[in-house]
Amino acid sequence: MHTQVAIIGAGPAGLLLGHLLHLRGIDSVIVENRSRDYVIERVRAGVLEQWTVDLMIAMGVGQRLQHEGLRHEGLYFSFNGQRHHIHLTELTGGKSITVYGQNEVVKDLIDARLATGRPLYFEAANVAVADIDSTRPVVRFQVDGQDQELTCDYIAGCDGFHGICRPGFPAGSLTGFDRVYPFGWLGILAEAAPSSDELVYTYHERGFALFSMRSPKVTRLYLQVPPEEDIALWSDDRIWDEMLRRMSTVDGFKPNVGPIFQKGVTPMRSYVAEPMRHGRLFLAGDSAHIVPPTGAKGLNLAAADVVVLAKALGQFYKSNSAQGLDQYSDICLRRVWKAQRFSWWMTQTLHRAPDESPFDHRRQIADLDYITGSRAAMTSMAENYVGLPMDVDLG
Ligand code: APR
Ligand code: PHB
Repeated sequence: MHTQVAIIGAGPAGLLLGHLLHLRGIDSVIVENRSRDYVIERVRAGVLEQWTVDLMIAMGVGQRLQHEGLRHEGLYFSFNGQRHHIHLTELTGGKSITVYGQNEVVKDLIDARLATGRPLYFEAANVAVADIDSTRPVVRFQVDGQDQELTCDYIAGCDGFHGICRPGFPAGSLTGFDRVYPFGWLGILAEAAPSSDELVYTYHERGFALFSMRSPKVTRLYLQVPPEEDIALWSDDRIWDEMLRRMSTVDGFKPNVGPIFQKGVTPMRSYVAEPMRHGRLFLAGDSAHIVPPTGAKGLNLAAADVVVLAKALGQFYKSNSAQGLDQYSDICLRRVWKAQRFSWWMTQTLHRAPDESPFDHRRQIADLDYITGSRAAMTSMAENYVGLPMDVDLG
């Protein structure tokens, strides 16, 4: 088997890249090691920046997003029992964010991929990359017990943080920048109508909490917990008790309670791999970098990488110029580090660290007081939250 671009991983990065290449008439094969149901049902975050929504619509995959996505013009910060509103749209010249589960994005993109008739392999076993320093790299895997060999011009490593592409870089060719946080998030989905139509980020003396949603009938909530917390320690009653304690504010806001139908604990980490390319292997999305979810940037960063990569591959196939490919890593990393900075800032401002001092606590309150009181500070926060400017070229 031969293709122009072999894409490893059918998460948002791999699927978006496949469709961006399709729109440019470039062939690809997507190789995913999990099943279709697993990929679609995996519960993840769900905030799309303005440009990501615009991108999905421009790519022709935004119909359900436009219909079912929840557009938000603002959000709240809550601390000392008070909610403070930040009007994102007013502060950013009309931009907003849209709440639409990552699994819905993935579902729409799989449907779009299948409609193109281009190959997408699920449940591929023992996926391995080789010859990335040559002009004909190769991907090996098995489907239904049969060995497959896929030669290609380029490999896109879109296989997430635990994938095989980043470890496929030769020893010494990659530097990882890492920060592990001393807490995690316990997240739930509940059958309960959202009690606020915008997100509420809460800083509480018992720890961070976040109010979000998935639909007019489903509430999504998170609590700061220790990083390796055993979910078995959290009965539904204990979860609701803690959510209500942290989130209730003097204006009467509190989440509506309802049956919990999904729960899990996620550790928090910041990581960046530099460079994002070696030879003919390009990393995109979580395979190259992860952010703590507090800034809601993960999916949007993955989309930004593949927009840059698709444009560079487009240039290569159209005019035989490798300039865009050579600049890929530097262009992506500038945005990645700004998103890292913002995600780190949101995380350290809103969480209680086990080793924090009374000075840190006062400083965090001052930070929140400043962010919710100064138009200049709010504007900076809003500009980052809705997404820094992104140059999209569909070719
Ligand atoms: N071979 C093939 N596919 C693999 C392999 C492998 N060895 N290892 C992992 N994968 C697949 C995973 O099963 C997954 O479907 O690669 C895909 C990677 O998808 P994501 O982890 O969703 O990463 P990405 O597409 O970069 O999207 C980033 O995901 O983790 C969230 O918050 C993050 O929103 C961000 C987004
Ligand atoms: C979510 O709705 O899952 C969500 C929202 C905002 C975040 C993280 C997750 O910062």
